Order: sequence, then structure tokens, then C-alpha cells
Amino acid sequence: MSGFSADWLARREPQDRRARNAQVLASVAGAIAAYPSAMVVDLACGTGATLRAISSVLPRRQNWRLVDNDLSLLARVEPPVGAELTVSTIPVDLAHDLEAALDGPVDLVTTSAFLDLVSESWLERLVTEIAARNLPFYAALSFDGRLAIDPVDEADQAIFAGLSRHQCTDKGFGPALGPAAATMAITLFKQIGYSVVDGRSDWILEPGDPLQAEFLAGIAAAALETGGAASADVKNWIAQRQRHIDAQRLSLQVGHIDFFASPSGRR
Ligand SMILES: C[S@@+](CC[C@H](N)C(=O)[O-])C[C@H]1O[C@@H](n2cnc3c(N)ncnc32)[C@H](O)[C@@H]1O
Repeated sequence: MSGFSADWLARREPQDRRARNAQVLASVAGAIAAYPSAMVVDLACGTGATLRAISSVLPRRQNWRLVDNDLSLLARVEPPVGAELTVSTIPVDLAHDLEAALDGPVDLVTTSAFLDLVSESWLERLVTEIAARNLPFYAALSFDGRLAIDPVDEADQAIFAGLSRHQCTDKGFGPALGPAAATMAITLFKQIGYSVVDGRSDWILEPGDPLQAEFLAGIAAAALETGGAASADVKNWIAQRQRHIDAQRLSLQVGHIDFFASPSGRR
């Protein structure tokens, strides 16, 4: 178990799909549009959200290798219906066996909602391994630290600071880059001569959106865990936020970055 429940991934999937940056995704599709078929490796696939989100814009014949270390999520992978796809699920701990996930014939490497979990040294390893194979890389929905709640509450900053600390704790790859991950990945790819297209893929959670309460409860739990704010303050904050949610007075913006990094001179 990775701590990411299949139910939570299912609840966030429609929001993630809406948020994906269309320009970045068009670059991904354009890069391999002329291929007769595409072999895609999706790192930290969960239940296959990236496969479901992007298979319709890739060449008709696709072969997907879905990689995760959580067997219960891999068991719930559901390919989209009607598509001409071959899908295999591969249990791999990417902290240790990244290279095994990337080996063999591959046209595109993808991931989503994952890079913020990894450390600087692991990210460098990822970029090195991808570049060594001259592969293009599409990473969607990395949290970038921007968070805006309307109406503003005086305790927001203390709670957000606790979340920031939690974001940088070790998630199995060493101290996590958290909100710095996508920007750092983009810099690393550019340094080795890759072209990068990037853009925002923010969640916009309007009043009445069912994800609001669950997302804010997650932030409160993170703030409590890192001890960034007194427990009574966190409890008061979440109670006040719940009142705003119940009154349909709350709007929430969660910042994400998508990017597509491609090597020059591929095929
Ligand atoms: C936030 S979920 C994103 C899942 C999916 N990409 C999506 O967008 O719905 C993070 C994923 O990273 C996976 N993960 C975390 N640590 C991992 C590791 N060491 N090796 C492989 N996968 C890992 C989790 O199991 C989980 O599926």
C-alpha cells in the first residue's frame, strides 16, 4: 500500500482531467502523431489515470506499460473501452528499480501527480536515465505550492506553512522536492538540451465542489503532522472552513504544472 487510496484517486480524476494543460498535451500528441503505434511507460500510474486521460490523442495502436509499487492500485487499473490498446501492469519500486521500468522499446514516458514526491537526487537520476535513452517525457499535475482560498482566513498562512513542511518530508525517495519538483525537472531537462513546453494545470474548485472538504482536511492533517500550527488552531481552522463549504462560500485554487520535455533529433 502506498497511502494513496483508489477511492481518492477516482474522486480526483475528473478534476485532474479538466486541469491538464491542453497546449502541453497537444505537444505530446504532436511529437508522436506520425508513429504507426506508440509504446508508453507510465511511472507511478496508480489505477491508470494518465492512460485514460491521454490515449485518445495518441496513435491508434498503443502499448502501455503501467508501473507502480502499490499492488492494490495496479489491480484496479481500468483501460478505456473501445481503444486498440495493449496494457500491462508492472509492480516496481521506482525508488530502487527505475531503470527496469524504462528498459526495452519505449516511445514516450509519462507520469502524473507524482514528481512532488521525489527527491532531488532521484529526479536527477530520472532525467539522466530518460536522456540516456533519448526519450520524451510528459509529467502532468505536479503540485507547485500555489494555493489560494477565498475567503482568506487569518490562520491560512500558518496552515500552509505546515503543508509546505509536509510536502518536503521523505516519501520513500529521500527528502521530497515537493512544490519545487516540476520547476527543477524543467531546468534539468533544459540543461541537457531538451526542448520543454510547460503550462499550468490548476485545480479550480468552485463552491459546491465535493473535493473541497476532502482536500482541506488533507491540508489540516499535514499541518498537524508537521506540528506547524497548534492543534487547537488547526481544529478551529478546519471547522471554520467547513462552515464556508457548507454555506457554499468557498473557492479554492490549487496550483499544478504540466510539462513535456523532448530530445532533439528523435526518429
Ligand atoms: C498521487 S498518486 C498518482 C497516481 C496516478 N499517476 C494518478 O494521476 O492518478 C502517486 C502514485 O505514486 C505511486 N508511488 C509512490 N511511491 C512509489 C514508488 N516508490 N514506486 C512506484 N510507485 C510509487 C503511488 O503508489 C501512487 O500510485
